[in-house]
Amino acid sequence: MPIRQLDIQGVRNLAPLDITPSPLVNFIYGDNGSGKTSVLEAIHLLAAGKSFRSTQVRQVLSHERDRCEIRLRFQRDDETPERELYHLRLKNGDHLFRLDESLLSAQSQVAALLPVQVIEPNTFRLLSGTPEDRRQFLDWGVFHVEPAFIEEWRMFRQTLKQRNSALKQDQGDWLDVWNSGFIESAARIDQFRKAYLTLLVAEFRKTLASLDDSLDVNLNYYPGWDRESDLASVLERQKDRDIQLGFTQSGPHRAELRITVNRVPAAEVLSRGQQKTVVSALKLAQGIVFKQQTGTAPIYLVDDLASELDARHRLALCQVLEDLKCQVFITSIEKNQLMDGWAPADFKVFHVEHGQLQEETLA
Ligand SMILES: Nc1ncnc2c1ncn2[C@@H]1O[C@H](COP(=O)(O)OP(=O)(O)OP(=O)(O)O)[C@@H](O)[C@H]1O
Ligand SMILES: [Mg+2]
Repeated sequence: MPIRQLDIQGVRNLAPLDITPSPLVNFIYGDNGSGKTSVLEAIHLLAAGKSFRSTQVRQVLSHERDRCEIRLRFQRDDETPERELYHLRLKNGDHLFRLDESLLSAQSQVAALLPVQVIEPNTFRLLSGTPEDRRQFLDWGVFHVEPAFIEEWRMFRQTLKQRNSALKQDQGDWLDVWNSGFIESAARIDQFRKAYLTLLVAEFRKTLASLDDSLDVNLNYYPGWDRESDLASVLERQKDRDIQLGFTQSGPHRAELRITVNRVPAAEVLSRGQQKTVVSALKLAQGIVFKQQTGTAPIYLVDDLASELDARHRLALCQVLEDLKCQVFITSIEKNQLMDGWAPADFKVFHVEHGQLQEETLA
């Protein structure tokens, strides 16, 4: 799924740039504050519709411009023609996404075309963050390998909203109307997630072993309600409390992926470097499953590769990326932290200085 050409304007401190990346490995290095993360952020803004560092997308726009524009040409694989994706965002929040000449109505259409995975210094937060963070991680995978999932999830959210509104208005009788749809939809979502997780767990174990064979980490899926009971009886049991609270306590919106070491949450026992390794293994495993299911790999954005990882773990991570034959953009402060011990088959090196990105010619 390589990006063939990338054109960025009006993002943070970056001077307008137009590059032809390698379809495999792209190294970006430069001093602190030079603009490395901003390059990855621009790709992510188009592909995922948000920044991975600021909650306010507005912050990504250059202080000196009233708009940012990101345009790229990508190719699903060698057999398919190149297509163009374009994103325009104004300071006032207005924005649009375009595929070739057609406007796209939803960002999820871009996400489906250009799947990206991010590994960055705050990546370990997947372990220490909220259940929702891990649910979103899980659903990224389900969304990309099961086309029916997004529509099912949309319908479920709608039913949940109606059920919650009936609860808030204390209309207990109406609950039965919503319950059957809620339960059926919950069962389908649960099936999608379980089927995906079976694939993910197998790849996660292999990937983690290749990054660090001393770590023994378990993934446990919790559907969002007491596993010993069926959802109908859980809803019945919780009905009075649901009415008191004004929302539905149990259901797939409360699903959770528990990540543990000896039954203790991984975030509470693992070192920062070990946490980064585990989360990297999870994200790499998602890419591997994605490739098995779709025939093409997602694009990896690896920001500040060296943070928290020693040379051995860095090399192991790069090796998995190389084996996946995906396009990857990796940043680092020092050039030798990237090249040290790793010589991928096809790569380009870019240097960033004060927002100016230059491709280096390789000797
Ligand atoms: N909206 C903005 N407009 C202009 N410049 C900005 C904006 N937001 C941040 N900057 C500046 O852009 C520069 C690039 O930041 P970026 O995080 O991309 O650097 P980096 O190369 O990743 O640095 P580090 O090695 O410290 O991670 C910084 O100097 C930052 O102060
Ligand atoms: Mg950075």
